[in-house]
Amino acid sequence: MNMNDMIVKKRDGGKLSLEEIQFFVDGYTKGQIPDYQASALLMAIYFIGMDKEETYALTAAMRDSGDVADLSAIKGIKVDKHSTGGVGDKTTFIVGPMAAACGVPVAKMSGRGLGFTGGTVDKMESIPGFHTVLEEQEFLDLVNEHGISIIGQTGSIAPADKKIYGLRDVTGTVENLSLITSSIMSKKLASGSDAIVLDVKCGDGAFMETLEEAQRLGQLMVEIGNADGKKTVAVITDMEQPLGQAVGNSLEVIEAMETLKGKGPEDITKLSLTLAGLMIYVGGKAESPEQGQAMAKQSIEDGTALEKMRLFIQGQGGDPRILDDYSLFPQHAFSAEAVSPASGFVQALHAKKVGIASQHTGAGRATKEDSIDMTAGIYLRKKTGDPVEKGEVLATVHGMDEAKVKAGAAELQKAYVIGSQKPRERELVKKIIGL
Ligand code: URA
Repeated sequence: MNMNDMIVKKRDGGKLSLEEIQFFVDGYTKGQIPDYQASALLMAIYFIGMDKEETYALTAAMRDSGDVADLSAIKGIKVDKHSTGGVGDKTTFIVGPMAAACGVPVAKMSGRGLGFTGGTVDKMESIPGFHTVLEEQEFLDLVNEHGISIIGQTGSIAPADKKIYGLRDVTGTVENLSLITSSIMSKKLASGSDAIVLDVKCGDGAFMETLEEAQRLGQLMVEIGNADGKKTVAVITDMEQPLGQAVGNSLEVIEAMETLKGKGPEDITKLSLTLAGLMIYVGGKAESPEQGQAMAKQSIEDGTALEKMRLFIQGQGGDPRILDDYSLFPQHAFSAEAVSPASGFVQALHAKKVGIASQHTGAGRATKEDSIDMTAGIYLRKKTGDPVEKGEVLATVHGMDEAKVKAGAAELQKAYVIGSQKPRERELVKKIIGL
């Protein structure tokens, strides 16, 4: 097999065989295929696309490029949940404990944040003492004992994706349906759970800006998951503005805790109930997603989801008293406010700009080597549709670096669009695919 022939074939609209795709993934992962040929093939795929068979072959080859987790020691149907990435998305910390409280084991591997979207592992590490690296046996034991454990994804899961994603990121080949699908699904399929609930974000702060694109991505990921024998459903959700009011590591974990206490923002609560309802349904503990949602709601009302959160934190080395005493989180040294330049309504609050402002205050990293300021972040006091007066506080920015906090507040001001008309309300949950 020859890379040059494969590049020309794809460039001219051809279909790659399973063997060719396997050859590319193996060869590139082992360093036998140079970056320039891999880049050319990715660019040909970007323009020509791949059909479902090619996409599945690429996903499977990437899944098998490293370890495939064996979760058979955990009793029950293990359900994973994955978000394609958004701003202020802390739902994992809410739906995990809710699903666990309803009898669905959650054995999840999560990633770190890069760019303007946050990562679950970074957020969890804002809890002092919390470990995201556990021995395999410890991870399995925690799920069997408490119903939930979330660890950092190791380098041995889908190493081909790590290499290929790194190349896509610098060659303008990220935004392709088959490449995104194979990247996300190879990691999900290698993580070992039996069923998957995908939250596909759509809007300004997401890879897919339009509903049509997000639907196509959701549909393809559902087909690939099901082709691999995992029950997969996808929910298309709005990411035009950030989720909830908190953006940034410890701020988001606190908001998740408040939501588990029944005091969370409406959007986060609604999305979490939708996702948890689906997890409980595909996990075989409810007859329908609606019944699953009712069970999830009950787990907040009766405190069982909060109790699961307590056990989850304690099980992974954190101090569970933090649930009742947020002063145990690292505390910021500086804050600054973004104020409204006019009276009227918040017409729009651009998720991506908020994410970038949060990253610049220290909550995110620009390169993998950057360290994170766990106290840095943004508290949004006004969101789309809210009335505002000139000079009123729109949002507060926190962190340890005074200059960055001030610059973050100035940047954040540009994320808000203030106008005289109240905007139409946007639908948060737009579609569910795969039921
Ligand atoms: N997330 C991933 O893991 N891969 C992509 O290609 C896009 C989002």
